[in-house]
Amino acid sequence: MRIDIISVLPEMIEGFVGESILARAQKKGLVEIKLHNLRDYSRDKWRRVDDYPYGGSAGMVMQCEPIDRCISALKAEHDYDEVIYTSPDGEPFNQHIANDLSLKGNLIILCGHYKGIDQRVRDHLITREISIGDYVLTGGELAAAVMTDAIVRLIPGTISDEQSALSDCFQDDMLAAPIYTRPADYKGWKVPDILLSGNEAKVRQWEFEQAIERTKRLRPDLLK
Ligand code: ADE
Repeated sequence: MRIDIISVLPEMIEGFVGESILARAQKKGLVEIKLHNLRDYSRDKWRRVDDYPYGGSAGMVMQCEPIDRCISALKAEHDYDEVIYTSPDGEPFNQHIANDLSLKGNLIILCGHYKGIDQRVRDHLITREISIGDYVLTGGELAAAVMTDAIVRLIPGTISDEQSALSDCFQDDMLAAPIYTRPADYKGWKVPDILLSGNEAKVRQWEFEQAIERTKRLRPDLLK
């Protein structure tokens, strides 16, 4: 899998993709994550990639040409399954979308900035628009980093215990059951007896019931 991230501020994401689990996945050859500075595709002598909006409203708009040139250059080298645009008005990102994208081949993620991108890019080049929540960030870089993290950790081999990705919160549209580790009694704070019983079937049943109870209490919307 390959993820190409296009941004006017690639430095914002550089440290993140070079660290920890994402770094490990790249070293293992499970994914290649490449950052591209959109300004490198500007023909402007000041490397500008934005301009005033037609119609006179406030703010700046990212222009078609640098984005088209960058995406075309990438498509000349690789095949892509999705060209994603990060935007607060996109479809809300969730675990289903992360699962779906982790099964794809190659992805381009275009980080929005300023007021957004020229609508013609959305109409002709973008295949999917994704928001990471109902709030407005200063740019799409954090959204691209969030999505990349959630996608890459699902690629088999990225995290050491694959079971642990399968028992994540949201994996079955439910929150996860509470978890405990040693000691069994810390300052009188006790681990539930069932977890010490050694009866695996009963433990799984308890975890399931706990997961349902927590989901009903904290995120009833997931059960609908
Ligand atoms: N860019 C600005 N805000 C965003 C959001 N909430 N999700 C994705 N991209 C964004």
